[in-house]
Amino acid sequence: MASASNRGFVARLLLRKTVEQVQRETETSQLKRTLGPWNLVFLGIGCIIGAGIFVRTGNAAALHAGPAVLFSFLIAGTVCALAGLCYAELSSTLPVSGSAYTYSYTTIGEFAAWTMGALLLLEYGLAASVVAVGWSGYVVSLLGDYGLVIPPELTGPYGHELVRNGAAVIGADGNPVTTLFNLPAFLVCMALAALLVIGVSESAKVNNVIVAIKMSVIIAFILIVGWYVIQNFDALKQNWDPFIPEATGKEGEFGWGGILRAASIVFFAYIGFEAVSTAGQEAKNPKKDMPIGIIGSLVVCTILYILVSIVMTLVVNYKVLNVPDPVAVAVDALGSDWAWFAKIIKAGAIIGLTSVVLVLMYGQTRIFYTMARDGLLPKVFASVHPRFRTPWVNTILVGLLTASAAAFFDINTLGDMTSVGTLAAFGIVCLAVIWLRTTHPQIPRGFRVPLYPVLPVLGIVACFALIFTVESRVLVFFGWYLIGAIALYFAYGMRNSRLNKGQGQLDGPDMPEYKEDAPDGR
Ligand code: ALA
Repeated sequence: MASASNRGFVARLLLRKTVEQVQRETETSQLKRTLGPWNLVFLGIGCIIGAGIFVRTGNAAALHAGPAVLFSFLIAGTVCALAGLCYAELSSTLPVSGSAYTYSYTTIGEFAAWTMGALLLLEYGLAASVVAVGWSGYVVSLLGDYGLVIPPELTGPYGHELVRNGAAVIGADGNPVTTLFNLPAFLVCMALAALLVIGVSESAKVNNVIVAIKMSVIIAFILIVGWYVIQNFDALKQNWDPFIPEATGKEGEFGWGGILRAASIVFFAYIGFEAVSTAGQEAKNPKKDMPIGIIGSLVVCTILYILVSIVMTLVVNYKVLNVPDPVAVAVDALGSDWAWFAKIIKAGAIIGLTSVVLVLMYGQTRIFYTMARDGLLPKVFASVHPRFRTPWVNTILVGLLTASAAAFFDINTLGDMTSVGTLAAFGIVCLAVIWLRTTHPQIPRGFRVPLYPVLPVLGIVACFALIFTVESRVLVFFGWYLIGAIALYFAYGMRNSRLNKGQGQLDGPDMPEYKEDAPDGR
């Protein structure tokens, strides 16, 4: 293998792992092929349904799209379907377990893999913070129902005026309450990191139970609130007038511009479907079942999301939905006889959101672990605890990172950063399909994206178009984040890459065997 010194700069950035090499690296897992199409659909739904529908839909409807938020769900769902088809092709072509990071390393090369690693930190790490903030909103609300009040200053991001039911909360001193720190969100991240360190992970059965709880809560919401809407349609239909509120003139506030802005917000609700692609080695019939798992879970969630948004924007006016627990606010409209149902919704949301934070944090630690084994991150990220056999330092760092982001930043900024990072990652995945078809046209492909190259190209265009609908403030953050990440690659990753030195993945006596069971039991 050529050494670092005699490789050209571009060749260096495009340095790739071979498919055989990645296969060898994952050979040790000896995973059993046990997952059928329904297991895969369930696996996808387990990661997909979370803060997107339980929290962010409210903000998207109230401030950006009004009742037309259902169009935003359709737009975001279509973008995800395009990326989903590309994930399905890659997962059926490259028989490796692992995320888009490994796909990028095997197709476009090391620089793209590093960039993907940075984007996945937003897609998994920061997404965990978003879901933790959503979790905190439902916990504060449920505890409040039982008269347990957490000091309001400790329930929100630093320096924000606390708003409840559309009005600023006034403190004992007569001034609006300004929040300092989101304590529940911080604590849940740290507690889940501790569970991941000691290796407590859910079994597949627990995952199925949690998915069933989440789906039951959402279906019960659609049926019960939907039934109420039908009974009172004449009085409630005014909530859909206007269906597309007139644009205010401010960018992204209502009108079609608002629908697109809301699409980038509710896009968050779909993140997680690509987790299905990581189960390629465990699918009984990956050729047929991977696309079913990916597209099936997207279709099920799109239908549920659209029904939830129809019911939610009919039962109350969209303007009151900018709250931490919009689904519960919609149930409150049914009257005090249904207060028990609002509590069940909150409890179901808390259980569902907890598992999403856990799975996202787990995913993040696994990406850091793989990158460290490749030499792209310091060795400490791959160091495994001798007793628990988990990457403990890495997990504690991920815990601190997600907990701090959740504690100090607001959910909208965090959520938009996650959406932008994930959209960029999906764009790269679509590009990887085109790259692989061009460079390796002969490799057998279990599943092929139909209408090639139109759909992958459309996927790239759609992902990048949606990125540019977010607030310019977030785009500036994202730009700086990418510049920082790229600088780190040249300062550290490029110099320490084991592939470049002709070495295999980091392993050896100081690397006890890593316990590989995922929190969702795969
Ligand atoms: N799609 C996941 C959620 O909405 C990340 O929480």
